[in-house]
Amino acid sequence: MKSVKAWNLPAYFFHLALFACVIINLEIAEESEPWHQYLGYAAIGIVTLHFLWCLFQGRGRRLLDVFPTPARLKAEALQLIRREPSPYPGCGPFGMLVMLALWAAVLATAISGFLLMQAQFFWASPWLEEVHEMLAESLVPLMVVYMAVSVMMSLWQSTVAMTAKRRRQEDEQAQVPLKY
Ligand code: HEM
Repeated sequence: MKSVKAWNLPAYFFHLALFACVIINLEIAEESEPWHQYLGYAAIGIVTLHFLWCLFQGRGRRLLDVFPTPARLKAEALQLIRREPSPYPGCGPFGMLVMLALWAAVLATAISGFLLMQAQFFWASPWLEEVHEMLAESLVPLMVVYMAVSVMMSLWQSTVAMTAKRRRQEDEQAQVPLKY
């Protein structure tokens, strides 16, 4: 049976680059430094490229194939409970749901930051500062949830695959005629 890689090089790149931009902006780059803005714009670029990449991936991995509709989420939850193999070679509907939430939060953070920069020249907007900070602070919990879902799904895939392999080997052994 041909094994399918759940992760590929572009997927690693998009995840690492986005997480790096967010963490550096939260923890290292001061909001007064130009780097803060550049990293925010880079985050918008990474989310856009990742979105396009997900739209045009191979069958079964495409955004539309794994888009988290209620029916797909229910089916994936049932497969998880019944310990059935996942039909998705890459990210499934649950992973995509968290990914979409993370993308939306990153875009909203960066766009609110951009508006804040514009607003600083025109009018004082303490509420926009609050919104920008609140959105930025929601990114870490979202990234933690995203990583937890990814790890859980990978463990599920490998456990189910190992069980299926063991069963196949047992079946094959049972079919070999005994030699005397
Ligand atoms: C991933 C994207 C971003 C993250 C995670 C982020 C995070 C943050 C955080 C945590 C603060 C509060 C800092 C503090 O009060 O100590 C902040 C402030 C600020 N950010 Fe961002 N930011 C992002 C994108 C941007 C962008 C794209 C811009 C502008 C183009 C921007 C402009 C600002 C400004 C002007 C402030 C100061 C607000 C104030 O006066 O309190 N940010 N950002």
